[in-house]
Amino acid sequence: MADTVTEFYDDFLEKTMVRYRIVGNARLDAAIELVAKYLRPGITVADIGCGIGIVSEALARKQRGADIIGLDLSPQNIRYAQATVDEPNARFIASSITEQFDALRRTAKRPVDLVCMIDVLEHIPEADRRQLFSDIADICSNEAIFVLTYPTPEFQRYRAEHDPEILQVIDNVVEFDDLYSEFRESGWHLARMDYRGIWVEDEYVYLVLRRKTPDEFPQRKEPFLASLRRRAGRLAIRPYLRWKYEKRPFRER
Ligand SMILES: C[S@@+](CC[C@H](N)C(=O)[O-])C[C@H]1O[C@@H](n2cnc3c(N)ncnc32)[C@H](O)[C@@H]1O
Repeated sequence: MADTVTEFYDDFLEKTMVRYRIVGNARLDAAIELVAKYLRPGITVADIGCGIGIVSEALARKQRGADIIGLDLSPQNIRYAQATVDEPNARFIASSITEQFDALRRTAKRPVDLVCMIDVLEHIPEADRRQLFSDIADICSNEAIFVLTYPTPEFQRYRAEHDPEILQVIDNVVEFDDLYSEFRESGWHLARMDYRGIWVEDEYVYLVLRRKTPDEFPQRKEPFLASLRRRAGRLAIRPYLRWKYEKRPFRER
């Protein structure tokens, strides 16, 4: 199976990915915007399933002080990335994240602070996910962030029914309930989850995980003017509100 998957993605390069370089790609632009929020100077970033390195390159440009490691199963993708990405703070390795995890461990010289898997999770065999999340947690710093994007289960089922020929060699429906227990048991906490439409409504899940929950939850004060406006807006009807919500319900019980 591993060889079939590698061959598929070697081939996918010319059929699909090079086109992203020529005409651009809205899916990738949105993913880059999401991951870039977590870039900081001096951090190590792992872009797992980096394809031809478009996200890795964009992250390297946005934060020149970060060390970006792009990893992909397909040697052809990695050769292409190495030949086309010129950023000195981006480097690439060809290896399978499920079968040769140590390659990433060896390449990252220090704990990884930001991991992204952009439309890769659905292509990882379900049985390998728990171990993968736990291996990733193992090489990450305590403050690490893990960003994942993948097709929503609803959209993935729709595609399987109406457009099965566009599905890739492994293209699973990723159910959130399964995923939640897998990442919780591997030491990840949910920080954010969104449904995002690029070409159709509710097409992708955007998931942000944290290695640990925040040490504190700082207070947020409502801005003074907003608070004033909210209170002033109700001033005239306050006697009625008091009657309806404070007095009447208790009197009538
Ligand atoms: C749909 S492509 C996404 C590529 C890129 N992240 C993007 O969004 O354009 C999925 C990528 O995951 C890679 N991939 C699949 N299984 C992998 C594995 N076990 N280890 C590393 N990469 C893998 C494939 O080679 C392919 O480049």
